[in-house]
Amino acid sequence: MKLNIAVLPGDGIGPEVTKQSIKVLHAIAMEFNHTFYFSHAPVGAIAIDETGDPLPQETLDLCKNSDAILFGAIGDPKYDNDPSAPVRPEQGLLKLRKEMGLFANIRPVKAYDTLLEQSPLKVDRIQGTDISIYRELTGGIYFGEKKRNEEGTEASDLCLYTKEEIERIAHLAFKAAQSRKKKVTLVDKANVLESSRLWRKVVTDLAKSYPDVELDFLFVDNASMQLILNPKQFDVILTENMFGDIISDEASVIGGSIGLLASASVGNQFALFEPIHGSYPQAKGKGIANPIASILSAAMLLEHFTLFEEAEMIKTAVEKSLELDITTPDLNKLGKTISTEKVGDFIEDFILHPEDTNRNFTNIHLGQSTII
Ligand code: IPM
Ligand code: MN
Repeated sequence: MKLNIAVLPGDGIGPEVTKQSIKVLHAIAMEFNHTFYFSHAPVGAIAIDETGDPLPQETLDLCKNSDAILFGAIGDPKYDNDPSAPVRPEQGLLKLRKEMGLFANIRPVKAYDTLLEQSPLKVDRIQGTDISIYRELTGGIYFGEKKRNEEGTEASDLCLYTKEEIERIAHLAFKAAQSRKKKVTLVDKANVLESSRLWRKVVTDLAKSYPDVELDFLFVDNASMQLILNPKQFDVILTENMFGDIISDEASVIGGSIGLLASASVGNQFALFEPIHGSYPQAKGKGIANPIASILSAAMLLEHFTLFEEAEMIKTAVEKSLELDITTPDLNKLGKTISTEKVGDFIEDFILHPEDTNRNFTNIHLGQSTII
């Protein structure tokens, strides 16, 4: 398969983790005879520095002319404590999602057996957790009208949803549940918010066309508690934009590190793949950022193009790295400092040398020679 991939590394650790995914995708291309072309473009704070615009027109054009987008991270502390900043890096990502119609953000959350001890949660609670979060991505309070009065003493953000916006992501969530454990949990705040009541009504009506899928409801406050109390009760979580943003960060605690969580943002025409973590500016350039979320996002990219065997290969390589403790400091059991680059090297190497699977990877696959 030939794929044109737009690469938007963005800010902070974005470039260093994205570099590892590209390396891994090159290995997949070589092993499976595909051709992947990568074209880089600026987005976020780095794009503001270069052009004054967090999403320059050329970047958007490149994305629209590509088969898929591989996104790094966005954000810079110099904007975080400046509420009067006229442009902000995050606007680049939000505009990109809106312009490309990426209305569904899919965030898988899994407890890896080899990492159970790394999570601050009790092992018996989290073992076997496998959740797919369907977060609405182009509506709600993120995109509703924003106002501030002239004196600067009053502000509001409108949370607006239409039936169509709810239906299109709900269909995807129900279809996903059909090939999983057949359960959808709608997370909302229908006891207070009118927009949530609309979600409940629309989703309840739509559920009738999926009689094989059980539909369940939870208020977001309760859901955030249930998520760490008994995460195994969930299969597919369907929710609006901001609730999805918040509960997915919370859910990352189950896996042991936010550095593991990948995501796919899809629409009718385009698809973007990005780790759910942010730009982690404190770690920038130190080689300590976990590249796995980005690498697993690359695996989701392959799945999007039905390259399932290839995606599986990446996942197996990732699991092997976790098993052998070839991990960055956020996960490393022995407190070793294996760098971002070395984790990427291992995963690349595993893909290029599948015949070595049973050998001692720890010694031979850390960027040293694979010839023993
Ligand atoms: C995410 C991020 C973004 C969001 C920010 C960077 C705008 O937190 O992708 O989860 O809030 O959607
Ligand atoms: Mn977030």
